[in-house]
Amino acid sequence: TLLIVGATVMAYLLGSIPTAVWYGRAFFNLDIRQHGSGNAGATNTFRVLGKRAGTIVLLVDALKGYAAASLAFFVNTIYPLSDNELLSYQLLFGFLAVIGHLYPLFAQFRGGKGVATLLGMVLAIRPDVAAVCIGIWLVVVIASQFVSLGSLLAALAFPVLLLLRVFGQPENPMLIGFGFLIFLIVAITHKKNIGRLIQGNENRTILIKLKKK
Ligand code: G3P
Repeated sequence: TLLIVGATVMAYLLGSIPTAVWYGRAFFNLDIRQHGSGNAGATNTFRVLGKRAGTIVLLVDALKGYAAASLAFFVNTIYPLSDNELLSYQLLFGFLAVIGHLYPLFAQFRGGKGVATLLGMVLAIRPDVAAVCIGIWLVVVIASQFVSLGSLLAALAFPVLLLLRVFGQPENPMLIGFGFLIFLIVAITHKKNIGRLIQGNENRTILIKLKKK
């Protein structure tokens, strides 16, 4: 129906908001994709533009995924959906926001790696499991200083935790399958990070000094 098509387009457009690119351009007059790791994400914003910038980009990028997944509730108020349909639409809209984040319409289709937006999406769908993943991410990032390693392990933990049903009720197989798809997406967007981690020259997330022009 028209409503679903509208929500689908809306989810992609939401994800397409290139927070890191716009933030860098607006407040620092630079393209974040030409600095640090070159990624248009919260981690690289933190690395290049500082704590405050990184935190804002993280929150906005996560909000995109959260809001997109929540469009399913909006659809539900107009056309009542079954639990399974509701979950399917949460996944569909969240996924489209992630696609928008990776290939943003508003930034020459060169966006980030999807971690913050995926986090927002899973927070909307399974906040308890998402919270454990955040914990894992924090421990790994603090211990290793590699955000990419934290992102990869947290993304792997999500479907594994669902599979282990650590939170009681049997988990929806579609969500578990999707969880592994999420891990696959994160692994693909972190291909270069994985290479660098193996070679031992991955970027640490310390603030770097901007080169003066
Ligand atoms: O969320 C992206 C992070 O896992 C890696 O970012 O900039 O170090 O490639 P970066």
